Amino acid sequence: MIAAWTNGYGAADLLELREVPEPALGADELRIEVEASPVTAGDIRLRTANFPGMSVFIGRAMFGIFGPRRKVQGSIFAGTVVEVGAEVTGFAVGDAVFGESLWGAWAQRLVVSASGAVAHRPDGVDAATAAAAPYGGGTALHFLKEAASVQPGERVLVIGAGGGVGRYAVQVAKVLGAHVTAVDRERKRDMLLGLGADVVRDRESWDFRTAGACFDVIFDIADVTSFSESRVALTETGRYLSLSLGLRVLFDMLRTRRGGGQRAIFSVAMASRESIEVLATWLAAGHLAPVVADCLPLEDIAQAHVLVEDRVVGLVLVSPSRESMARSREVA
Ligand SMILES: NC(=O)c1ccc[n+]([C@@H]2O[C@H](COP(=O)([O-])OP(=O)(O)OC[C@H]3O[C@@H](n4cnc5c(N)ncnc54)[C@H](OP(=O)(O)O)[C@@H]3O)[C@@H](O)[C@H]2O)c1
Repeated sequence: MIAAWTNGYGAADLLELREVPEPALGADELRIEVEASPVTAGDIRLRTANFPGMSVFIGRAMFGIFGPRRKVQGSIFAGTVVEVGAEVTGFAVGDAVFGESLWGAWAQRLVVSASGAVAHRPDGVDAATAAAAPYGGGTALHFLKEAASVQPGERVLVIGAGGGVGRYAVQVAKVLGAHVTAVDRERKRDMLLGLGADVVRDRESWDFRTAGACFDVIFDIADVTSFSESRVALTETGRYLSLSLGLRVLFDMLRTRRGGGQRAIFSVAMASRESIEVLATWLAAGHLAPVVADCLPLEDIAQAHVLVEDRVVGLVLVSPSRESMARSREVA
């Protein structure tokens, strides 16, 4: 089969299309024909080994010291089951599915555990919409619902709301019943209002620290502030959420974990069957809309990476087949 092969850590042109062997199928695994797979800011970090702060050690240990251990990357997929292992129950050939794996999605087919982070795609949800959800949706679900326990009526500030995680943070916070203030570039205002933000602020002209102690949650997706800087804008029990592991947030997290006051939280979102099923329910209910910038053929994977690095607004997808690419482009 054809796959995007990563020749080492570095520039986008290290990615090349190659003929690779089909992965073997285990008894509890599914073989999935990929229809759409996103290229995210997280993928760029992995390709360049640009792991922030202290996560450089964990990142290199997990993904490869001198180069990526897994040469076919891409972790999120939407597609169709084409083969099931002997012990698989709950999935059959022909099922439309989506989910997340650690690697292997930038290929014509990938193999995933049937008990892993994979779920049926709800009726009427196209591959592009489903493939867009796990990265930002899964991260927002983990941070806002599981880590910060956002409650209806709480006020959530999303910094970096126009990016891959932020667009879903706005939507997930709304599903949880929060009032959402979204911060990013002014040119993303209409998109953010369309995703459900109650208030949109221009990052160039607005300083959230002047808002008073009004936010129950500050989700610092852009990694531009800190717990200590945020405290003035947090309520007495407000939570500051960080996606980047650094000494400062680790220290703040340790010293605020007890006491019931303001808290700093760093975490890592790990996709699971349960999280993908929650996203499937929200997709079925029409709560999560994608913002797709473009869908390119898999052979243009390097160009897809460059688009993301050039800060295109919206998600960039790749698709191994011309037909599914054309369908995904209709969503863009
Ligand atoms: N811990 C975890 O589990 C986890 C999970 C997923 C992602 N991550 C990490 O989270 C980070 C964000 O991911 P992402 O996919 O959302 O990245 P992204 O798509 O690059 O989005 C970042 C957004 O922040 C905006 N921004 C930059 N500076 C800003 C500022 N000063 N104020 C307000 N907005 C600002 C960017 O705007 P412009 O592009 O227009 O400048 C962009 O819209 C990445 O480092 C990723 O690796 C961590």
